[in-house]
Amino acid sequence: MLPRYLRETEGVRTPVAFPGYRSTALRAPLRTPVDLPHRLTEITGPVLGEDRLLPTDADLTLRMGGEAQGQRIIVHGRVLDSDGRAVPNALVEVWQANAAGRYRHVVDNWPAPLDPHFDGLGRVVTDSLGRYEFTTIKPGAYPWGNHHNAWRPAHIHFSLFGQAFTQRLVTQMYFPGDPLFDQDPIYNAIPPAARHRAVSRFDLTRTQPDWALAFEWDIVLRGADQTPFETDDDGDVA
Ligand SMILES: [Fe+2]
Repeated sequence: MLPRYLRETEGVRTPVAFPGYRSTALRAPLRTPVDLPHRLTEITGPVLGEDRLLPTDADLTLRMGGEAQGQRIIVHGRVLDSDGRAVPNALVEVWQANAAGRYRHVVDNWPAPLDPHFDGLGRVVTDSLGRYEFTTIKPGAYPWGNHHNAWRPAHIHFSLFGQAFTQRLVTQMYFPGDPLFDQDPIYNAIPPAARHRAVSRFDLTRTQPDWALAFEWDIVLRGADQTPFETDDDGDVA
């Protein structure tokens, strides 16, 4: 007997098509997706190779022999299962814009400066208590072509891998009190009751005096407190 994963219930899914988020109309399926059965392929692999990760992978502020520009922040939290159990050994990867709101990416060419010492990429594996921590800089807001004068609220993209390829989850972490929430259709595509779970908490206790601010964000994989997740496609466009 192969183990099975719990299916995500319909009511807590962020919809793949959301009218205000225009590019979803191009990629959302027209018919209701069919859940495939769990077979060996769905529940085994990958061997992620934790030993390949370097301690510097979790510090995005030090790249290419120098220090990134911007507000230094510590982003930390836990990866939790539906009953609050810690999820150890999960690969947590992040990507984000620099302090000016620009990605180091071939199709991001709006006139904000690139930072020679910031690539916006980080990764870490959760410890035995499910904890992760990154040191980075606070990303800037950036314009995108969704509608006239559309700006994304500051955010960090997260990808999580468990012990199988089908256990990849993708989401975005926001910052508290962002004035751009109201006009952002990606944030507003999240069901209203779940939106606050995508927003981190300012964490004074984990700030480092004369060094960095801190934000805490727990990621819950399933259950009533589940973090809103998105399709893999979303992360690459905004
Ligand atoms: Fe983004």
